[in-house]
Amino acid sequence: MKNNSRRGFMGKAFGAVAGVGAVASLYAMKRSWDPLPSVKAAGFTTLDMSQYKENELVTEKWRGKPIFVLKQTAEMVKKAEENPKDMERLIKIGNDYFLVCLGLCTHLGCIPGYNPDEQSFLCACHGGMYDFTGDVTKAPPPRGLDIPPFKVDGNKLVLGEEGPEYKKMLENGITLKA
Ligand code: FES
Repeated sequence: MKNNSRRGFMGKAFGAVAGVGAVASLYAMKRSWDPLPSVKAAGFTTLDMSQYKENELVTEKWRGKPIFVLKQTAEMVKKAEENPKDMERLIKIGNDYFLVCLGLCTHLGCIPGYNPDEQSFLCACHGGMYDFTGDVTKAPPPRGLDIPPFKVDGNKLVLGEEGPEYKKMLENGITLKA
């Protein structure tokens, strides 16, 4: 009788420990499935802008959409300066300038390709073209590539937050609200 009740107690104790272990490992598994907190919090994506190379297009992701990041060369910035509207499309981080835009054609949503030699985007669906600032240079796209909400934070860019630079772009009609 004494032994039985002892076995019963041990069994319960083991069951409780095993239960805690199972919950802990489930928690660990869940944690590894979850996106990073910065990504999870209201769909923000934080980009470290020091990782990009000049005239090399990188496609990031924000809320399931492709985001083009194109660091400008000094020559590109010089060309953009000739047209104030082009310059307004670029984001300044430290001494560098970037095009950061949705990688979706504003005509019917195809993904344009970037040609680094010509420094322009071509949308193969209907032949629409954009320059290195994402401004449209050949119809049928009705406007330049849209710019996602962003906030400059040191050498980082937080996509999904509306910082003053983004609000200024909206006010100046540089982009539609993504
Ligand atoms: S979808 Fe890009 S030109 Fe039509």
